[in-house]
Amino acid sequence: MVLWRAWQVLWLWLPGIALRPLDCEGEEEGVRWEVLRSDLSHALSEVLHNGALSRDLHASKDSKGRDPAVSYGDVQLQRHLERFQKLVLVLPERSQCALGRHCLRVLVSVLYSGLGWDLWFQRYEDDLWGLVHGTNWTEALAAGWPIFEVLALVADLYGGEQLPADCRPIESELGRLAALVGAKDATDEITSVAGSLLRQPCPLARAAAFAALAAVGRNERNQPLPPAPGVDVGLLAQTQAAARLAAGRRGAGPKAIFAPPMPSLLLHLDDAQKRLHRAWMKRGRVDIIYCGPLAIEEELQDLCSGIQGLCKLHFHQSDWQSPSPCFAYYRSAGFAIAAAASGASAASWSTLLVSPGTWTWEEYLSQDLRRLLQERNRFAREIAVAGLPTLNRSRIFNWPLRRVRHRYWKLAYEEYATGHETSPFLPLAQFWAVGDTTSGTRVYGTRSFLRLLARLSRRETDYVSALPGMEDAGRAAIEATLATEDEGAANWLVMLDLLGKELGLQAYTYLNGASLEDSYQSAARLSPRLSRTFHIESAQFLPQRQGPPQEHCLFPTSSLASAFTHTHGVVVSWCTRRELRQMFLDVGGWWLNMDPLRHIIVPVSASVLNLYRSGETELFPWDADIDANFIAAHPVVIGSLLEEHEEELKQLGYTYILRGDRVVFRTLADTARMDIWLSGPQEVRAYDIRARLCGVRVNFFRDQLAGSVWYYRPGEKIYGNTRGKLLHCQWKGHNACLPDCLRNGLGVGQDGCEFPDRFVHLYT
Ligand SMILES: *[C@@H]1O[C@H](CO)[C@@H](O)[C@H](O)[C@H]1NC(C)=O
Ligand SMILES: *[C@@H]1O[C@H](CO)[C@@H](O)[C@H](O)[C@H]1NC(C)=O
Repeated sequence: MVLWRAWQVLWLWLPGIALRPLDCEGEEEGVRWEVLRSDLSHALSEVLHNGALSRDLHASKDSKGRDPAVSYGDVQLQRHLERFQKLVLVLPERSQCALGRHCLRVLVSVLYSGLGWDLWFQRYEDDLWGLVHGTNWTEALAAGWPIFEVLALVADLYGGEQLPADCRPIESELGRLAALVGAKDATDEITSVAGSLLRQPCPLARAAAFAALAAVGRNERNQPLPPAPGVDVGLLAQTQAAARLAAGRRGAGPKAIFAPPMPSLLLHLDDAQKRLHRAWMKRGRVDIIYCGPLAIEEELQDLCSGIQGLCKLHFHQSDWQSPSPCFAYYRSAGFAIAAAASGASAASWSTLLVSPGTWTWEEYLSQDLRRLLQERNRFAREIAVAGLPTLNRSRIFNWPLRRVRHRYWKLAYEEYATGHETSPFLPLAQFWAVGDTTSGTRVYGTRSFLRLLARLSRRETDYVSALPGMEDAGRAAIEATLATEDEGAANWLVMLDLLGKELGLQAYTYLNGASLEDSYQSAARLSPRLSRTFHIESAQFLPQRQGPPQEHCLFPTSSLASAFTHTHGVVVSWCTRRELRQMFLDVGGWWLNMDPLRHIIVPVSASVLNLYRSGETELFPWDADIDANFIAAHPVVIGSLLEEHEEELKQLGYTYILRGDRVVFRTLADTARMDIWLSGPQEVRAYDIRARLCGVRVNFFRDQLAGSVWYYRPGEKIYGNTRGKLLHCQWKGHNACLPDCLRNGLGVGQDGCEFPDRFVHLYT
């Protein structure tokens, strides 16, 4: 506390010194600062601009019972305010986002504390100091914090402070200034009044003059402000410096700024900021990208010309199913936009992707898209990408949202249990649905769009070059491998979905309107390019009931897959595990069917551990081989037995290598191998414990299990065979990361050294 005071005093004497920079991203003790900012703004604008609050509060002021909750008709707003009351209780004492803390505490306390004003100012003085002195107003406004609205609300309820004695002679002039700022076409008069106020010794007069000039869109040299995303930063800084001076004089404290007309001028400043920001966003740039079969260049051009600001159409008519030039066209359009954006701020730019699956164009589609652009622009800070519900060419309503799971070499577009997630932002909760994807026709904030493209390039380098045969390949070699494939246009959208998910961008779907498009997921293909760039071997673009997954394998042999697992700490390639499992099913089935009563299979070595780990139909996912004994109750001559069945095995897709009493079975393409010891005669009835492995009947005996447990101690999960490394991912962010049993030497990780669910398995 003492320190805090000392710090304040310092500020008073050094009003020109830099203010603490804003640090209001991310989450802190359950408070998401971005969400809080957006919700505060929303609630305040409802409270202040419909005026109901101040009427009600003034009406109940005599009793000091400031309880607005009872008089709100708007249930939603009441809920917001109740949530703020709860949040205030859990706010961290010292927070990275001091501004957020101050705003929330002031708002909630002024509405609900019921304290008399003297006591209130005493108790919340630190928060007020923080708003006037500790916060850089330029940064706060630019980031969309409703700092002036909070102050205006306090002023509205409090009724205002007396002007200090040396300002009183100019009281009427200040009043006139305030009236002028609200009036139309009064800029000349305002500059003249402000000019005379700026010569006054009273700092509040100067703060008022600066604020008034900024609010009517002038700059520091008293010229009309060139187009800008907000009010003039120089004037804003001067306003704050003068306000800080006023607060620092003769113990006035931060409440000095509640002397009229400061609060109303600050509110005007806030309005001006919003107005200029909206205008700025509108006159940004929109890029419309279409590649597909429809001749809709004119329609898109019309859409473009209905947009304020710059609009650029990237149009290419062509087939969109693979092989299609669309994929390459999208890339080049992306490069063109990136080039235009380099050096520009691009914060207000949007990119509208029109789905290649669009099957017709109608005027109302143009209307829906215009509105989508507008709405996304309004919430540009909150929404990175926005789409619409879809109607396909059979005019069937198709709900486009999916959860995208991209883990363990698999990709699955899954339907949400109840359609979608709900936005954490209160103003977006009611008319928007949230998910990992939306329609193919979608609006990106251009900056987010470009981030995705940059990420794609990086991925191509990092992920493709890590695959067998591509080690040390340069960018040109990678391009060459990728370029051999003709992609369908739909894969572009799939890639954007995956990259967006990776960056944590949630897709918003505006519930009003519809895009006239066929589902792009139906047209998506697990191409070599998609597979290599994202390390996907199995892709389920549609619900499972509509068919099996598409496959593309990345590892030619199980030993290469196993080496990749050991190097990077990821689960074994999906294809390799699938082949191993299938081989065990087929070759094991062959052995058992040959003589069902007298043949058994006994897993040995690490394969025993499947008993404890993987259920009856799968292998544990960091294991790249199977070891087992095939045992018969009758004598076996291995060589002749195998020769006899060579043709049958070949029919099944397998061949073998004989190594003494061991047989290495392998697929014909040698994509997977397993080690089997064949023997007989043996007392098969002694193996009296029954189980299943990969769906095949297997047997054990009691001492064997005890011995395996004693030897392997399988409760702890290790990989890398003899090196015995604890499971631990070495490739941060890889989709197939193993769980963490090492935690950099600290012990079992947060995940409990286990996968979150069974999605890691081949079939779920
Ligand atoms: C406030 O922030 C702006 C923008 O970051 C910066 O230029 C300015 O110097 C800051 N003002 C103070 C007093 O720290
Ligand atoms: C339209 O959607 C329905 C339901 O999803 C589907 O059965 C139908 O095949 C789709 N029509 C076309 C042309 O894609």
